[in-house]
Amino acid sequence: MPAKPTPTPHSASAAASSAKKPGNTPAIQIRLLDKDDSIPEITHLLHRAYAGQMAMGLQPLAGRQDDATTKRRCINGECFLAILPAAEGKPARIVGTILFHEVEPDQGPPWFQNKHIDSFSQFAVDPDLQGLGIGRLLLEMVERRAKECGAAELALSMAEPDVNLRQFYERRGYRAIETWKWPYTNYTSLILSKAL
Ligand SMILES: CC(C)(COP(=O)(O)OP(=O)(O)OC[C@H]1O[C@@H](n2cnc3c(N)ncnc32)[C@H](O)[C@@H]1OP(=O)(O)O)[C@@H](O)C(=O)NCCC(=O)NCCS
Repeated sequence: MPAKPTPTPHSASAAASSAKKPGNTPAIQIRLLDKDDSIPEITHLLHRAYAGQMAMGLQPLAGRQDDATTKRRCINGECFLAILPAAEGKPARIVGTILFHEVEPDQGPPWFQNKHIDSFSQFAVDPDLQGLGIGRLLLEMVERRAKECGAAELALSMAEPDVNLRQFYERRGYRAIETWKWPYTNYTSLILSKAL
């Protein structure tokens, strides 16, 4: 895992981004996790987003992790949230998340050990709001952060059997590097990477 000048998750260094749903959906704000954000809300979002992979018989950590694990992971990297602002009497809520530069307790794949590589993980968008560009906004945020930190490539680990997900990344310039077996999953992971 490369050493990076990682700001704390509570740093205000990240710029806000916004997206419009075709039609009249409110703007989405992308920002760092704040100490007042609800960890259970993030866990719930992850479980809902990864339910598709769980239904495929896969066991992604994000699809079944408890709140303590969500918290540990969030503070071991820079956790960005996509926020749907309050509107029409409904409170603001977390509708997406991505974790940049997670420092994992488990040994990572060889590609992640290269000094010029950074990575992201725990990437999810509320299933009710997928396909609207929120994922793209979150990806653009971590690609920007990786460049700021001096990385030449941004990498990720995904469940190899999820063919549609692989195509999602390939359409965004990511390419396959190698496979890896994490100790906490029941599938082979595919390591993808993109030159920044
Ligand atoms: C991967 C994920 C974060 C992408 O988020 P998103 O907000 O749907 O992403 P975007 O809207 O930017 O792009 C979605 C793509 O799917 C297409 N799409 C269309 N309808 C869709 C739908 N109902 N649901 C999902 N995607 C749809 C979009 O047009 C877009 O296509 P493109 O690749 O040609 O641009 C989201 O699908 C998700 O949470 N998946 C489950 C968890 C997961 O697999 N995470 C990644 C682990 S490595």
